Amino acid sequence: MRRFVAALCILALLCPAVRAQTPQYIALTFDDGPSGRYTERLLDGLAAREVHATFFLCGYRVEQYPALAARIAREGHEIGSHSDRHEFFTHMSAEAVCADLSAAAEKITAATGVTPTLLRPPGGLYDLDVLARSVCADAPVILWSIDPEDWRDKQAAAVTSFVTKRAKNGDIILLHDMHASSVEAALGIIDALEARGFVFVTVSELALLAGTQLCGGKAYCRIDFPKYE
Ligand code: NI
Repeated sequence: MRRFVAALCILALLCPAVRAQTPQYIALTFDDGPSGRYTERLLDGLAAREVHATFFLCGYRVEQYPALAARIAREGHEIGSHSDRHEFFTHMSAEAVCADLSAAAEKITAATGVTPTLLRPPGGLYDLDVLARSVCADAPVILWSIDPEDWRDKQAAAVTSFVTKRAKNGDIILLHDMHASSVEAALGIIDALEARGFVFVTVSELALLAGTQLCGGKAYCRIDFPKYE
């Protein structure tokens, strides 16, 4: 048995091409924007790399930068709602949450032509009972599995290394297109992980690839792929 396992290990070592053929899928997500020049720089970098990400937009920001919101949609990125005012839902009544999400959906749809189907509550704080009574009852709650806290020290290299050390198939990475360092980190993450065989996809694509149906009122931190991989 031991010899058989050793032989398998040697075979695996001898066949790097075979190992490299199994892609690992991962999603980059950006919260709180659009932010003006940083989002613009990020979009340029994503376009140059032909990578699609998922943007959780705030209604009040979309109102400030409608052309940028439209560009995000036009360039094939996925758009989700990150509320209208970025107030924590856990401090609000169900009625107030409902009103906030309606306002966000209206502003995002008006600017982009896309009605968001995914929801990321501000701060990741939510109450499923409250959401179930809101207009977003059908929206899956998308959280994250890797959070480098890019807003804290704003050191691009540290953010990139935090993420690349932890990245696994099916992960959802949280970043904010609100700082120059986050944009630099995001592009560094793409370059480093693509070199290791990762493929960047949107959250909905990640679910589709894993055969996971995203359900309204359910929360997802990552998308698990079948074990046979
Ligand atoms: Ni946020």
